[in-house]
Amino acid sequence: MESGLEDVVAAETVLSDVDGKRGELIIRGFSLDELAGRRFEDVVALLFGGFFDAVPDADGIARGLAAGRQRAFAETAAIDDRLVNLPTTDAVRVLLARLPDADDLDAAFALLGAAAVLTPAIIRRKAGLAPVAPRPELGHSTDILSMLTGGVPSAVAAGALDTYLVTVADHGLNASTFTARVVASTRAGLGSSVVAALSALKGPLHGGAPGPVLDMLDGIGTPENAVAWIEAALDRGDRLMGFGHRIYRVRDPRADALKAAVRRMAAEGDIDPTRFALAESVEAAALAILTRRKPDRPLDVNVEFYTALLLEALGFPREAFTAVFAMGRTAGWIAHAREQAQTNRLIRPQSIYVGPRPRAAA
Ligand code: ACO
Repeated sequence: MESGLEDVVAAETVLSDVDGKRGELIIRGFSLDELAGRRFEDVVALLFGGFFDAVPDADGIARGLAAGRQRAFAETAAIDDRLVNLPTTDAVRVLLARLPDADDLDAAFALLGAAAVLTPAIIRRKAGLAPVAPRPELGHSTDILSMLTGGVPSAVAAGALDTYLVTVADHGLNASTFTARVVASTRAGLGSSVVAALSALKGPLHGGAPGPVLDMLDGIGTPENAVAWIEAALDRGDRLMGFGHRIYRVRDPRADALKAAVRRMAAEGDIDPTRFALAESVEAAALAILTRRKPDRPLDVNVEFYTALLLEALGFPREAFTAVFAMGRTAGWIAHAREQAQTNRLIRPQSIYVGPRPRAAA
């Protein structure tokens, strides 16, 4: 049996293909390069097509998302002190679990709207600020940033968030998406799939890595420190956050899409150039050291490395990064749950019992 189910095929999907040898991600027939400049609304329309009755075009999806955001704002009244004291991702999970557990397009918009509204609201409550109401006339990414800061973001900042949400919207049968499909296979509703998937996403080996990437950059401090810091971390047996991937044996294509967005922000002055220079030095040092130390296991940059810089520059606190990831990936989870439901057979694998047998009666 392969540990970690590596190389086990557990589903057929029309949604996305991850080619780990060539470093390619295809989402419903489009390469990530083609999609990285599009709006999140366009990619939701792409992912949902055929999985609900009468999926609207991207403008209709934009209206559905706006309605979902507006409905979700009522849920921010439930953010009490106990939730404020939880990590943001955990607080979002509690609030998502309160939504009706249905299977239709309205339920999908409610979940996507809630993912977008609750995270900025919890971040603001943690800072002692009141949540900002969504504005239906704004695009999804622009509105998320407006709910975070209370102001209207620049086009470059909103475009960077669109690039991020599109880049992480779907990615084959990763741990959280598999979780969403397992739950959907029991005929539980979309809300159950999304809450379970978010629980899988939050671990540091999956979607919880970008916060620790920033901790690493802070620990390193200056480009001159990179080699010594990384060598010491690897000597201790630590893993470098933002490097390595189960499928990719070359550079994660999402890292390039995000690095390009970060570069655009740097050109606009939205990112401190010394921060960007530090990240590039750490990337180069880590790749050289990992290649020398692990010659048989190619370890390259993954999606989380430049995610960390991008989300930091947009003003999200690092402890909330996983919840921001979920704003994008919820689209993929929902599409996979619906795809699973279309051709469903209960997912129920087997295990091999290696424990003791009952002793035979004397
Ligand atoms: N730093 C140092 N060494 C590493 C790293 C890393 N980031 N990743 C893997 N390795 C090493 C392992 O220690 C192991 O070495 P060994 O054979 O000498 O014991 C070898 O590479 C193979 O590692 P596996 O655990 O088999 O790799 P796996 O495919 O299970 O792990 C994973 C993939 C979890 C992403 C891993 O690379 C990792 O922990 N990376 C750091 C965390 C991270 O960036 N997570 C985000 C992933 S992207 C996403 O999910 C959205």
